[in-house]
Amino acid sequence: MIRLEVHRSPEAASQAVAARVAATLAAAGGARAAAHVALAGGTTPRRAYELLASLLPHTETTHWWFGDERCVPPDDPESNYRLARESLLAPAGIPAARVHRIRGEDPPGLAAAAYERELRALVPAGADGTPTLDLALLGLGEDGHTASLFPHDAALDATDLVVPVVAAKPPPHRITLTLPVLRAARAILMLATGEAKRDAVARVLAGPDRATPASLLADADLTLVVDEAAAPRTPP
Ligand code: 6PG
Repeated sequence: MIRLEVHRSPEAASQAVAARVAATLAAAGGARAAAHVALAGGTTPRRAYELLASLLPHTETTHWWFGDERCVPPDDPESNYRLARESLLAPAGIPAARVHRIRGEDPPGLAAAAYERELRALVPAGADGTPTLDLALLGLGEDGHTASLFPHDAALDATDLVVPVVAAKPPPHRITLTLPVLRAARAILMLATGEAKRDAVARVLAGPDRATPASLLADADLTLVVDEAAAPRTPP
């Protein structure tokens, strides 16, 4: 089920995401040994990560994963790991042992297989054997992609949990979590702001469509957090 949450500004939407992540971790930390969260890439989440860094208690034990990564070194300006390190992981003092980055500097097929092994080894699995993330943070592209799952791409049918892709959005070579592991997450928070995302938001709400990969998560517990600029003009 998709819940739409509209906030007056990108700052308010970022604050809502940061607060929801902190609350989810507080709840998960009491129920299980450690929470597992996959972080979104791109540019939109930076402010939410900055706000989250100041909300995390030093006692928290969360393991931080990535929904996707560009095939670049970790210090590359295009690296999603670098975005998270600068805005969240370093400011919050999260130890490297609890940060699981996708090795974008390695051959994509090898890096994807290694990441899937790591996910399966460390993240508790559900009844069907799929690692169950406590929370997946995702962005939304103007074309309706999420993570690095692009329209009509073969990765939409992948049964592996982590695959390499060649994407329409530069940089083209990427590694992404796939729909089975994203759908298995206990909750998904998708953050989209700005007028340019309005059409994609409307298409996500319109129902599952391979032309809008983010809409294929409609059967998950998905909260779509947007600002007014990205909100549909007519209520869904
Ligand atoms: C990536 C992201 C991708 C991103 C969207 C939105 O690696 O590019 O994972 O899915 O979230 O493209 O990107 P912006 O936040 O930059 O608009």
